[in-house]
Amino acid sequence: MAKLRRDRTERVDEPARIGVLNGPNLNLLGSREPHHYGTRTLAEIESLLRERAGADGVTLTFFQSNDEGEIVDWVQANTGAVDGWLVNAAALTHTSVALRDALDGSGRPFVEVHLSNVFAREPFRHTSLLSDLAIGVIAGFRASSYLFGLEALIRHLRGSAGAGAE
Ligand code: DQA
Repeated sequence: MAKLRRDRTERVDEPARIGVLNGPNLNLLGSREPHHYGTRTLAEIESLLRERAGADGVTLTFFQSNDEGEIVDWVQANTGAVDGWLVNAAALTHTSVALRDALDGSGRPFVEVHLSNVFAREPFRHTSLLSDLAIGVIAGFRASSYLFGLEALIRHLRGSAGAGAE
């Protein structure tokens, strides 16, 4: 974990660095099952996040892959360069011990997000191999899930409040 300097009000002086991880098939957002995932493309979601992060002096590293091994490699390669992760692991959420181990091994906090409300869908989507390691989980708000997740992670990293705390 990067050393973060704080003043008495618990605000971080150094900008936080966040890795945004997107799993399989999220490259198709915009046209993929809009009734579940909304109509925004992944590029649009990236812009929204960069706008929000930039306003707060937060640096984002954004990544999407359809390949589990590439995703694990990316987590390992970027661990030293981030303070936390914003993770939509997509289908890997429900299947990947390898990704779980990579995130756990990174020692960095993460927020799990989903565009759709996975709990209102098929039973296999109700299980996540990541949630118990996450600071928190946000699901069901389409692209806004990412923004809410980013907000919660920034608050957590800045130590001003627990994720989700008022
Ligand atoms: C998803 C939900 C997953 O179950 C699914 O496999 C996805 C996207 C979501 O953002 O709602 O690909 O993570």
